[in-house]
Amino acid sequence: MADTAKLILPDGQTLELPVVTGSEGEKAIDIGKLRSSTGYITMDPGLINTGACRSNITFLDGERGILRYRGIPIEQLAGKATFVEVCYLLIYGHLPDKNELSGFSTNLTTHALIHEDMRIFFENFSHTAHPMAILSAMVTSLSAYYTDGTGEANLEMLDLNATRLISKVRTIAAFSYKKSIGQPIIYPTDKLSYCANFLKMMFALPTEEYEIDQELVDIMNLLLILHADHEQNCSTATVRQVGSSDANLYASVAAGILALWGPLHGGANQQVIEMLEKIHADGGDVDKFIARVKDRNSGVRLMGFGHRVYKNFDPRATIIKKACDRVLNKSGKPDVLLDLAKQLEAHALADDYFIERKLYPNVDFYSGIIYRALGIPTNMFTVMFALGRLPGWIAQWKEMMEDPDKKISRPRQIYTGLGINPYVPRENR
Ligand code: ACO
Repeated sequence: MADTAKLILPDGQTLELPVVTGSEGEKAIDIGKLRSSTGYITMDPGLINTGACRSNITFLDGERGILRYRGIPIEQLAGKATFVEVCYLLIYGHLPDKNELSGFSTNLTTHALIHEDMRIFFENFSHTAHPMAILSAMVTSLSAYYTDGTGEANLEMLDLNATRLISKVRTIAAFSYKKSIGQPIIYPTDKLSYCANFLKMMFALPTEEYEIDQELVDIMNLLLILHADHEQNCSTATVRQVGSSDANLYASVAAGILALWGPLHGGANQQVIEMLEKIHADGGDVDKFIARVKDRNSGVRLMGFGHRVYKNFDPRATIIKKACDRVLNKSGKPDVLLDLAKQLEAHALADDYFIERKLYPNVDFYSGIIYRALGIPTNMFTVMFALGRLPGWIAQWKEMMEDPDKKISRPRQIYTGLGINPYVPRENR
């Protein structure tokens, strides 16, 4: 017999609720019939306890620090796979064989350019525009140029739109950086790999030869893989929420980019570096900063620390920290911000405030330090995150669209406002 939970309500009603069990033993109470049977709804601000879908893409166990894409541990993918393989894995459910990989890679190459008319958009953004503002606007604009994938054709056009997005977002990201520093745009090069192409578009000049540094390519590849999916995080939930109204993939992903921008989510990587720079400028006093974080009235958080799901360690942070040491040891230059970050981590991990609240470094704590070492400017960090998260957004959107139980996402509320409140004519107010 299937498991059920019994709910007893204050008015004496009782209800048997089915228990849903996941493939890793996770359990949920299915409340689908709650309101229609009893008139009650559930309250869960921040959706801390609410499962909004069944998904077979990513498994995450925050207590044990486990992250797997399609069952494959992140530690194995991070050392061995390419980002392009991981994109395929997330979207299509299995690692590509040789033919699948070469077909997918060729498609990515074919779609690397953006419509030439879109270039003019870059001319008109302010020099001070944040690259995430440009990125989201440009991704929305893709749906104005690639109109064959909207409306009912949504799912049939998915392969084409997925490759367009993965390839073109990289081009848009590099173009927006070039625009922000006043340099000429560099077009993609067919023969280069995904990451090498991006680095060339970011850093090459038409006046000079650009040599690909394989080590930089490998580090970027690693970072993109680590960010590729993270089940129902804020931006992914946003992509699903918007897509649930049958909005097209470009519109849904643009919404995800905007959710990612927030400092409590992907925007934290930029905030971490800015925080470290401020501590450094203030004399590098880590104890003083930790005391401010612990002062509830200060409103200051230790950015890059804490996670809604990880309550032990974030496996991505562990991998990034090791990579950080590798990159910076190789450069031979001491990095004062890395040093500060390590001091902060050590102080926080030994402090009761952080221990009691189970606050550990998250993926953003060390990623900014590596991006800096790669020469990527601080305001581009969250764009790098978006580039990595793209295949996850696409895979989750596809899974939702293919789900026969898909419904428009429309939460309820408990109203706490005025009772009936008659309109007062303007002359009587
Ligand atoms: N610094 C100081 N205190 C913190 C921090 C932090 N970084 N994070 C949480 N806390 C404290 C809260 O003040 C709260 O304390 P209280 O119980 O005394 O009120 C307690 O820990 C629980 O915090 P919540 O905000 O309720 O936890 P939630 O799960 O809602 O938030 C979040 C998770 C948003 C990530 C939070 O830890 C945070 O703001 N971290 C800093 C921003 C950050 O690094 N974001 C990136 C997350 S990873 C990602 O999105 C890719």
